[in-house]
Amino acid sequence: MTLFQKPYTLPFDLHRFMRENEELLKTPPTNVKALWRDTDFIVFLVGGPNRRNDYHEDPHEEFFYQIKGDIHLNIMTDAGPDRIDIPEGNVFLLPPRLLHSPQRPDPSSVGIVVERVRPTEIFHWFCPKCHTHLHREERPVTDIEKDLPPIYQAFHDRHDKRLCPKCGTFHPGKD
Ligand SMILES: [Fe+2]
Repeated sequence: MTLFQKPYTLPFDLHRFMRENEELLKTPPTNVKALWRDTDFIVFLVGGPNRRNDYHEDPHEEFFYQIKGDIHLNIMTDAGPDRIDIPEGNVFLLPPRLLHSPQRPDPSSVGIVVERVRPTEIFHWFCPKCHTHLHREERPVTDIEKDLPPIYQAFHDRHDKRLCPKCGTFHPGKD
């Protein structure tokens, strides 16, 4: 008898998956759990509370569905910083290249995010006081659960980059 391998994974219960991965969704700095691996779309659950002050630049759109609790995105535009609130039950489509820093203060919050696979990830850091651009980092990322913390740590260790050349404020790094 030949074993037949299905060319797809079966549907599964999202809320059960959320419960089973509750601890990972509460683990900073990213609080993420991917639903599938090696796919064209990166689909992941994100919980809270998170701690991140980097801004992510994605060349593609990103889809947000906030299943539980409220979150907001800090964004950085040519006109300066702004904020987009995504309350529980809301969906949001982030346009390409809009620099965003998701803030998930509610520890019980859970959202689903869908992104397209891309060869590299681009991160930016800005002065928390005068919003001067401090640093840009572009790195290959294959595992969103494991690859991000070392990138945050690398910026944290660059004290020269964390010092704002305009106003002298020292960026808190990954803290
Ligand atoms: Fe500054």
